[in-house]
Amino acid sequence: MRIIELDNDTDFEGWRKASRRLALNDVKPSEVAWTVRRDDELSSASCANELPDTPQAQFNVSAKFVELAKAAILHRSDARFALLYRLLWRLRSHHDLLGATDDPDVAEIHAMARAVYRDIDRMHAQLRFREIGRERTAHYVAWFEPEHRIVELAAPFFAGRFADMPWSILSPDVCAHWDGHAISITPGVAKSEVPSEDRLEEVWRRHDNGLFNPARLKVMEMPQAYWRNLPGDSIIKPLIEDAMRMTSGPFIARKAIEPQRQDQPMARKQVQDKQAHDAIAALRAEAADCRACPLWKDATQIVFGEGPQSATLMLVGEQPGDKEDLAGHPFVGPAGQMLDRALGEAGIDRARVYVTNAVKHFKFVPRGKIRLHQKPSTPEIRACRQWYERELTAIKPELVVALGATAAQSVLGKITPINKNRGHLIEHAGTKVLVTVHPSYLLRLPDEKAKALEYQRFIDDLKIAADQLGNSAHAA
Ligand code: URA
Repeated sequence: MRIIELDNDTDFEGWRKASRRLALNDVKPSEVAWTVRRDDELSSASCANELPDTPQAQFNVSAKFVELAKAAILHRSDARFALLYRLLWRLRSHHDLLGATDDPDVAEIHAMARAVYRDIDRMHAQLRFREIGRERTAHYVAWFEPEHRIVELAAPFFAGRFADMPWSILSPDVCAHWDGHAISITPGVAKSEVPSEDRLEEVWRRHDNGLFNPARLKVMEMPQAYWRNLPGDSIIKPLIEDAMRMTSGPFIARKAIEPQRQDQPMARKQVQDKQAHDAIAALRAEAADCRACPLWKDATQIVFGEGPQSATLMLVGEQPGDKEDLAGHPFVGPAGQMLDRALGEAGIDRARVYVTNAVKHFKFVPRGKIRLHQKPSTPEIRACRQWYERELTAIKPELVVALGATAAQSVLGKITPINKNRGHLIEHAGTKVLVTVHPSYLLRLPDEKAKALEYQRFIDDLKIAADQLGNSAHAA
């Protein structure tokens, strides 16, 4: 029996090198035991380096296997290294093995990878940073207990999202630290070191350029032992010490009563207060885990529809934008402000309207600190349509207004040119539909005169909706 010792629990490169040598030397999976070096143990294990290298020998595996193996190795199961080597061994003679979903090894690697991705997703969705220290030298910290060893893999997401704030993610496995330039990894800290009482001030605020998402904040508990271990020049240590000195003083009191910034007009607040209907709440909860298309991977969160269940008017937009993705609410950014104004001028109270989007995750490409909106593709629109259909069933509006081409495509089930079809009601599958332009089209028009004209046409369309509903939209 060969005992192969890897450097750490997530040592994919070590596993890959060892497995290559083992397989090229025809060492059967049943002849290999895998272990991980522990700092406090004297190692008696052999290693694959003792085997002759055969650099000229070819050994290719598919990119799919590598991707699965990189994810599965983060699973907490002790059996993962052996499973991966067994699969690698079998893939040499059975190239299509990964497609054999009823094979127990294949099923297991898929299940492990899925569990790891789910955990990464949970970390992305649930991790909350908390600000410590003073504004000038603020640092953000979060405590997270992953089910699997995902912190290193999940951390770059936060570097992209919170690029210009220094943060630390503390976990029992490893801690990840971002200084604005690079992520560094230090050993994990134990849960037992987390103080039970919250003694650091909590500051809810929005980052100036909108990259910082207040929805992601929550109380973070800082393990005291971690402070001791911080290097003398760490930014965090003096900040925490400062914060600790200020625990019961006026600083805390002032922070505690500092009002949360009001980012949304009152009408939207009323929407939130009123909605809370079981059917929509249940749909929203279910949709939070939607993986029907890949857009969930980069988005902060799903942005589901909002509004009273009794709404007679449903507005459907394209997809959440940058602001909506961060806030978790539809139409709260510039297009939302334009929409609110136009609705008001058409005599429609947004608080009585159910507002949603054809696609419920933000699609974008990063450009530096900016996330540039991308139009959703037809497969993405189709994949998300189930949610619109279920919202429609739950709300049963008298009229649906589709804002822009993507919304029209989703609502009417086919590509529908706006200019040709606007201005009159369309009957579709038992629902009255009105199509009009998207408010961001108006925002993009460079010419002021054209903008004013198009804005008026938009209001005219919305007035058709208001007339159609009579007073019913107001009675909702
Ligand atoms: N654009 C949309 O289509 N929907 C939003 O929620 C925001 C901008």
